[in-house]
Amino acid sequence: MFKNLPGFREFYPEDCAKKNAIFKAWKTAARSFGFQEFEPPVLEPLELFTEKSGEEIRSQLFEFVDKGGREVALRPEMTPSLARMVGARAGGIRRPVKWFAIGENYRYERQQKGRLRAFYQYNADILGDESISADAEIIALLIESLRAFGLTKDEFKLRLGDRNLWVLFLEALGVCGEFVAKVLSVVDKIEKVRPEAFSEMMAEALAGSGLNAEKVAAECKKFVLINSVEGLEAQFAAAGGEFKEKVGARLSDWKELLSLLSAMGVGEFVKVDMGIVRGLAYYTGFVFEAFQTVGTGRALAGGGRYDALVKKLGYPDMCAVGFGMGDVTVGDLLELVGKLPKLETSVDVFAVIGSEALREKVLPVIFELRRNGVGVDYSFKAAGFGKQFKMADAVGAKCAAIFGEDEFAKGVVKIKDLKSGEETEVAMGDAVSFFANRE
Ligand code: HAM
Repeated sequence: MFKNLPGFREFYPEDCAKKNAIFKAWKTAARSFGFQEFEPPVLEPLELFTEKSGEEIRSQLFEFVDKGGREVALRPEMTPSLARMVGARAGGIRRPVKWFAIGENYRYERQQKGRLRAFYQYNADILGDESISADAEIIALLIESLRAFGLTKDEFKLRLGDRNLWVLFLEALGVCGEFVAKVLSVVDKIEKVRPEAFSEMMAEALAGSGLNAEKVAAECKKFVLINSVEGLEAQFAAAGGEFKEKVGARLSDWKELLSLLSAMGVGEFVKVDMGIVRGLAYYTGFVFEAFQTVGTGRALAGGGRYDALVKKLGYPDMCAVGFGMGDVTVGDLLELVGKLPKLETSVDVFAVIGSEALREKVLPVIFELRRNGVGVDYSFKAAGFGKQFKMADAVGAKCAAIFGEDEFAKGVVKIKDLKSGEETEVAMGDAVSFFANRE
């Protein structure tokens, strides 16, 4: 006997129904915002991720050498592939590019609740627009994509941080160059590690910088606690000269963003939180993560601005902002709060065949219905009425269409609604239009 690999799910039909219901809500939300669907390859050159995603993802790659001697990796995320696809068309593409994708990603993670080695992710990104409106649009789509399930502000929140202000804050502490990214990747782990471990990691990140790591760690611990624009203003109040101008400009971006989000009706889902810096290496501006605020408090989605990635891949400069949302944590949350979308019933009609002599008279009607988009199932073997009704129940059919001797003699089919028990007789020739008009 064989077992599936750890972290890889098997989707039985009921699991597929659940997954499809989630995807449907995501697609509807993305399309309602004018996003177009795209699909990147599952297998990519290893280098695409080792260079661009950063250390954490690097250690989680499913990588191997293919039969042609190429170093390849299963995609751990879709953002570098998207940047390449858009970059390749950067010359002529209409901007802003608003694209979404749903696909499976692979990360060799330590398996735990909400974290698997193969998971689906819904991505939505806007490229080629640097305005704060684009950030607002992406954040609003993330929120609406969760609200589409009926989730409320008591069940999830979006925590909004800013790498721009982090860079300015670190600059003021004397942290610059290569050390900025190193410090940010330590800050990203602040909630996950013990205080002593945080200090040790900071000392390691700042080794060779000549800076006092303990002081930087202590300042960072205070900065992550800022949770309002007023708090940010107070933090930078003493700034002077050119630095003051930069901070001032950024704080006005903050006000614009929050005011747009409130006009979009999603403001109450958003919390200012400088503790959000994001682990991936390519982020440059506003960054955000959505967390469930009930149960385990896991991350549902994450994203932000990444204005330099397209250029880093060798294409023309093109700014970008986007998010990724996972199916595992969203599915778990919906189950927890009883908001999983209604699962699609597998079949519309079960054809009850009165006798074997009628089978070849009924089959043309069944196939006529199927060719017209009505889902029909039936028994392959001779079976009594009672047994066929049981089968109809077992496959979750909405109605039974009864084709008996009497019905054929009258040129009708008897349709029984299996929920209400209501019966209707429909002329055989009208069966297709009858079902087409039912909801
Ligand atoms: P990420 O934060 O690595 O961002 O992943 C986004 C979401 O994917 C997470 O919040 C989580 O729901 C889900 N996820 C990630 N890893 C796993 C896992 N091992 N098992 C289950 N779910 C997981 C990105 O991937 C960025 N590329 C998002 C992005 C798009 N940024 C800009 N555009």
